[in-house]
Amino acid sequence: MADHKVVEHDVLVIGAGGAGLRAAIEAASAGVSVGLICKSLLGKAHTVMAEGGVAAALANADERDSWKVHFADTMRGGQYLNNWRMAELHAKEAPDRVRELEGWGALMDRTPDGKMNQRNFGGHAYPRLAHVGDRTGLEMIRTLQDHSIHQDIDVHMEVTVHKLFKDGDRVAGAFAYDRGTGEFMVFKAKAVVMATGGIGRAFLVTSNSWEYTGDGHALAYHAGAELVDMEFIQFHPTGMVWPPSVRGILVTEGVRGEGGILKNSEGKRFMFDDIPPLYQGSTADTPEEGWRYVIGDRDARRPPELLTRDHVARKITKEVKEGRGSPHGGAFLDIAWIKEHIKDSEAHIKKKLPSMYHQFKELAGIDITKEPMEVGPTTHYVMGGIKVDGDTQMATTVPGLFAAGECAGGLHGANRLGGNSLSDLLVFGKRAGEYAAKFAQENPSFTVSDDQIAVAEAEAIAPLSRDPGADVGPYRLQAELQKLMQDKAGIAREEEGLKEAHEELLQLKARAEVMGSGGSRDYNPGWHTALDLHNLMTVAEAVVVAAEARQESRGAHSRIDHLEKKKEWGTFNHVIKKGSGGEMEIRREPIPEIRQELKDIIEEQG
Ligand code: FUM
Repeated sequence: MADHKVVEHDVLVIGAGGAGLRAAIEAASAGVSVGLICKSLLGKAHTVMAEGGVAAALANADERDSWKVHFADTMRGGQYLNNWRMAELHAKEAPDRVRELEGWGALMDRTPDGKMNQRNFGGHAYPRLAHVGDRTGLEMIRTLQDHSIHQDIDVHMEVTVHKLFKDGDRVAGAFAYDRGTGEFMVFKAKAVVMATGGIGRAFLVTSNSWEYTGDGHALAYHAGAELVDMEFIQFHPTGMVWPPSVRGILVTEGVRGEGGILKNSEGKRFMFDDIPPLYQGSTADTPEEGWRYVIGDRDARRPPELLTRDHVARKITKEVKEGRGSPHGGAFLDIAWIKEHIKDSEAHIKKKLPSMYHQFKELAGIDITKEPMEVGPTTHYVMGGIKVDGDTQMATTVPGLFAAGECAGGLHGANRLGGNSLSDLLVFGKRAGEYAAKFAQENPSFTVSDDQIAVAEAEAIAPLSRDPGADVGPYRLQAELQKLMQDKAGIAREEEGLKEAHEELLQLKARAEVMGSGGSRDYNPGWHTALDLHNLMTVAEAVVVAAEARQESRGAHSRIDHLEKKKEWGTFNHVIKKGSGGEMEIRREPIPEIRQELKDIIEEQG
């Protein structure tokens, strides 16, 4: 065996975005020792890409809001595939988690009477997103980070986990490497919380940065955990499309929440066409009526730009496909037009959307207070993830392994509502930390065998001993994978493309197995990419397998060969697990009968 450093913690949290930080804080407060692994630097997390706000029924902007309405909105947005227990806990606990964060120092925008202000977002019946301009995720990370440094948490920065250890069925720690020195690290832990975020880097156009290679999903899957709902990938309707170097960077939904409208190249506000049946009656028929809602008229109906993300993304794609797109293949998003309604609109836009103002000014040379932006769909979020128990967040098939935030599946069903990611990570980060600490206290003894360490080391070293070669270097394979997923498993899918994607993926996997990175273990991004590829291939295969199996269109999963939503397909989730021969298996799992009380709430809320 090569030299390695051994580190022991009661609870090991992998991933230091909002969910990981919240879990680490909670576990530490239970008095257990906690290690927190960051793939990059502490504070650099996709959480900051949830810009427009955190969803919680605080009822500050509209007193009609309540956890019941939030619950019903989340279930409707998820097209009823959601883990309803998680949706219930999320809606009930989000307000307390947001107030708690405020108590820890988060500075939120205020209403004139001093309460946390809340803005409109797609699919939420009332203004529900507490926010700080368009920097909400950033403020949350800052607050959690500040709070966490006062806890007894050991932070391991620039460390990447390659494999989980098991002792029998239970989890027993993780094998990792230091990205700088290449030193191997053996983490022994009584419980592990996975909080690694998403899989955006499996696609070509994404709001996710380089870290998001599906590590948690893949590590858990290979350790025996099940993945649920992997066909559901959220394509956020508004990413930057121009210039090419910034393609995919998020343009917050907060722009539409503040009154931004979408237009095609003919100047038409195309979102007024084709309102989905689920939202008929709740959406404005005229621009004037929609605008009244934006400025707080409680009886006006919401503008169609604030329909759910899946629908808005598909509408933009349709406009482009039918030749009515913007010059660089998107739609126009116009916030400048609010000058017709707001006196000092320029100052207002700069105050409410400061990051967007700077982003477009500096990256695209556009002044959003005067001109429209060009935007188009970008891969933003995966609804699918590790299958967990709704209360404890423990993986259903691996004792001691917990998951929270984006890498956990269930809460969002077929489509997530904007802002629910931030409340998700607070509510379930806390729960995962709490139950992981409890598990560690109740299950203290375990061993990590030398054999497992040796296998993990051998796997990790392998790409270094092989030549990159001109044809199969890690970057090339990653680029091929991303293009394949974008073209054949992206926003519009059909059987033939998915079949091809599956076959090509298996070929890519075979090439990845013999691919090398060359070089040494000292800072070697090629080697890191080679190891990341293993995770990317796993999650990409899971997406394709589940997308092939779901022969209907529902939420974020859009099949052009099965355009309709089928009632019977709304009764089960797709669950993926690793078969005994190493092959990926998929099954249908019936959704458990929803409690009558929750059923009544859904019916009451329409
Ligand atoms: O558009 C946004 O600000 C993103 C929010 C989210 O993904 O929840």
